[in-house]
Amino acid sequence: MNKIAVVTGATSGIGKAVVELLLKENIHVVGLGRNIEKIESAMKEFAHLTDEANLDFVLGDLSDTRQTNLAGQAIVDFVNEKYDGKIDILMNIAGIVSSGLHLNEDGNEVTFAINHLAVFLMTYHMIPLLKKSDDPRILVVSSLSHYWASINWKNIQSKKFYNILKSYKRSKLYNVFFVKEFSKRYHDIKIYAIDPGLVKTELGLKRTNRLAHIIWNSKMNKGKNPLYPAGFMVHVATQEKYLTLSGHYIKKGISIESSKVSYSPEDARKLWEYSEELTNIKFKY
Ligand SMILES: NC(=O)c1ccc[n+]([C@@H]2O[C@H](COP(=O)([O-])OP(=O)(O)OC[C@H]3O[C@@H](n4cnc5c(N)ncnc54)[C@H](OP(=O)(O)O)[C@@H]3O)[C@@H](O)[C@H]2O)c1
Repeated sequence: MNKIAVVTGATSGIGKAVVELLLKENIHVVGLGRNIEKIESAMKEFAHLTDEANLDFVLGDLSDTRQTNLAGQAIVDFVNEKYDGKIDILMNIAGIVSSGLHLNEDGNEVTFAINHLAVFLMTYHMIPLLKKSDDPRILVVSSLSHYWASINWKNIQSKKFYNILKSYKRSKLYNVFFVKEFSKRYHDIKIYAIDPGLVKTELGLKRTNRLAHIIWNSKMNKGKNPLYPAGFMVHVATQEKYLTLSGHYIKKGISIESSKVSYSPEDARKLWEYSEELTNIKFKY
């Protein structure tokens, strides 16, 4: 029987490469995309890989709580209908970097909202589907940049003295906290923080200013093809050897130490509770 994977950020960069490799492994994919043209283009591009595996997309946006709830519910409805309410893999890949301070409809800073809160909320929606699998796994794409992030409870969303890099790094530290805390709370669903390394994508060109474009373009020349981290991600999502590594930070398929601050259980718990408050949900165990 084919496994079933939900992938956010499935229409470009690392997420799109993951979709390609999942299909090559005969894993059915339900991608989340926010742009209909990009969805149609991915469907076309990967049509030749859909003899043994299905590729479907759900249209949805992760910018704020209301929209993420809608996207999560749309995926649940789709999976209930097509796959009897079961998925095996959730890949939380969607993410942004943003020049300047922008608040979403909830008043949350957008990098914090999309990179952390949407991961939190999407995972919450997918739990009942994952619980039906006999080998459920979640991957969350963090980043090397989290090593340079600190936590400041007086400025948790980086709204004060906003800085593009500070906000991004923090959001990626929060991904690591979330993975560690989730692994403590859920033992039957395995979860991993992924460090993809520097990858050649358009991440730094989408919500950023001219200066950021120049910096990103020069950095990107040294970045790997998105298929490179995607290959390791598919291994983490499927290979048996990762079953004992839930909660770990994984780079190139190998478990490595995350940053010192990411090991604070108090901060991980506090962030979890703060995120529950902001999204108005309560995880059930
Ligand atoms: N590239 C790197 O060097 C690098 C390094 C470390 C970590 N990462 C992480 O890897 C992940 C993927 O990034 P990438 O480099 O592959 O960049 P990317 O190509 O820009 O991919 C980001 C994905 O997120 C989606 N997305 C953004 N905002 C969204 C929203 N509001 N609602 C729904 N989807 C949204 C994008 O949709 P569209 O296709 O419509 O734009 C895109 O598919 C991110 O979490 C990033 O932080 C990247």
